[in-house]
Amino acid sequence: MIRLGVNIDHVATLRQARRALEPDPVHAAVLALLGGADGITIHLREDRRHINDRDVRLLRQTVTSLLNLELSVADEIVAIACDVKPDQATLVPERREEVTTEGGLDIVAHQAAVAKAMERLHAAGIAVALFIDPDIRQIEVAKILGAKAVEIQTARYSEAKTHDARLTELNSLQESTEFAKQAGLNVHMGHGLNYTNVAAVAQIPGVEELNIGHSIVSRAVLVGLERAVREMKEAIRAAQ
Ligand code: PXP
Repeated sequence: MIRLGVNIDHVATLRQARRALEPDPVHAAVLALLGGADGITIHLREDRRHINDRDVRLLRQTVTSLLNLELSVADEIVAIACDVKPDQATLVPERREEVTTEGGLDIVAHQAAVAKAMERLHAAGIAVALFIDPDIRQIEVAKILGAKAVEIQTARYSEAKTHDARLTELNSLQESTEFAKQAGLNVHMGHGLNYTNVAAVAQIPGVEELNIGHSIVSRAVLVGLERAVREMKEAIRAAQ
């Protein structure tokens, strides 16, 4: 059975839009776990645009199944990870001006920096996954670096505009998975997966974990809105 890691960054994004206390990603994590999530995924960005240090620490205490922390190789963030000790650290690229993580981490070009971050995370006893493009050379380097897993980015698949383009990207995900498994790496996937495009990815033999955020939080807003409005109407009615 493939593990589902629910990425709750967007819950924190909504909170930060008001610099308020709600919605609390810790509450969201508990509900996601009650809903059957196998783990919780969060990205502590250097600019703290959504998840912050307090969230990471409280989530570490709350999530006793699998807490997957996405982080860049920045020294300060790696130090926090080593201190908080998530069950898994996924190294991702990070640019301040991006809307979300764009593409995989180029571990071929940044091998030394990735190796340094991995060394510190491993010394703290944290399993490391590398978020990379579906590219054989990237997978080879992940193996050389001693990663436990690769998270193969599915953005090119999820953003493909035509049926043929989708099939091409799906093939590339399949081949990369096979190659990574043969190299002894665990295979995770994520980015842009939703309720319709997830099936084909979930059918790829060897995939062990999917990390999904945007589509789940988007659906939660819509399926929860009716009840939320009803409860506010009730609060107003009860006061009259
Ligand atoms: N995996 C990684 C490495 C990510 O950076 C993200 C987005 O934060 C996801 C998975 C989840 O992507 P989405 O929000 O598009 O489902």
